[in-house]
Amino acid sequence: MPIKNLIILFGGRSVEHEISKRSATNVFKNIDRSYYNVSVIGISREGDWFLLDNPQQIIESGKEISLSLSTTHPRFEIKISGETFDIQIVFPILHGTDGEDGSVQGLIKCMNVILIGSNVLGSALSMDKIISKKLLEHAGIPIVPYMSFTKDEKISFEKVKNKLGLPFIVKAGNLGSSVGISKVNTLEDFEDALEDSFKYGNEILIETFVKCRELECGIIGNKLLSSTLLGEVILSKNYDFYTYRAKYYDKSAVRVEIPARVPKAIHQQIRDLCEKAFLTLKCNDFARVDIFLTPENEIFINEINTIPGFTDCSMFPVLWENMGMSHRELITKIIEFGEKRWQQEQQYITDLKGHG
Ligand SMILES: Nc1ncnc2c1ncn2[C@@H]1O[C@H](COP(=O)(O)OP(=O)(O)O)[C@@H](O)[C@H]1O
Ligand SMILES: [Mg+2]
Repeated sequence: MPIKNLIILFGGRSVEHEISKRSATNVFKNIDRSYYNVSVIGISREGDWFLLDNPQQIIESGKEISLSLSTTHPRFEIKISGETFDIQIVFPILHGTDGEDGSVQGLIKCMNVILIGSNVLGSALSMDKIISKKLLEHAGIPIVPYMSFTKDEKISFEKVKNKLGLPFIVKAGNLGSSVGISKVNTLEDFEDALEDSFKYGNEILIETFVKCRELECGIIGNKLLSSTLLGEVILSKNYDFYTYRAKYYDKSAVRVEIPARVPKAIHQQIRDLCEKAFLTLKCNDFARVDIFLTPENEIFINEINTIPGFTDCSMFPVLWENMGMSHRELITKIIEFGEKRWQQEQQYITDLKGHG
């Protein structure tokens, strides 16, 4: 098999920039060099792209690159001082804003190269908290009761309270990392929560606050999926929910238990639901599904992360490690799924000339 040129894309204008760098470092270290010739592009916090030797390098010290979207010759070429690199595969390890919402995926798709991970549709659907809920609900997948609103609507505390009960949780419609999320007990909390969530976009989601355990499941594949046993994120008593601070600034905030202590039958039921959610939201190649489980064993699918954390201690690779798959094997498998999917997509007609 010829060695292919693969680019890892990381960084970006996101609160998860640093995590993306750590994830990319781990992926870079573990990609099998007998199949792939690996280069790295770092996207700075300002959004500029640089070619680097490795993800640890200071992004701005790399070679600045300009991309060309030629219509006559659509491929991903990076031109640096006259020299041209021809790229066959792009593996985005970007988390959150701009990287996981389908925008970079669309850009890469236009360049007609193999994109690893969820495509435009799966990325955009999974990132949008409101649309994804509607689709999961439509597919009969259990989700937490919710309401959604746009900025120009009148939002009555009483009505929300009557429908969802107290406390409830207010979220920005299209974000991650627990940014723009608040728990509401009173009218005063409610006003603050609305003001905060609407800072990030035009739509918000309000959900019943569920007292629950938080579980996570790794999925790989396309039509035929494999899933991991579940892991549990156990929050310290100091936190009401998994906040931004708990995620990134407080090492003692959580403890992870793999596999999660969940009765066998429920464990399997949750894995099946996670696979169904992955297919419903049109995800590709790999993702991590997050689940809530109540003390009465009621299951809710909370969300899907299409580019989950991939640091050496992130839940996604560690869940697979628990299934006996090394980081190297996991990364090879994910890339192979992407390549196979891309090859299958090539059979479809994109030009009506000669077919009309
Ligand atoms: N309905 C809910 N009930 C209780 N806690 C919730 C609820 N929704 C979210 N949370 C808490 O907030 C965290 C972040 O919410 P989530 O919907 O996963 O958004 P993000 O995409 O920012 O991670 C969750 O991990 C959980 O701790
Ligand atoms: Mg989450």
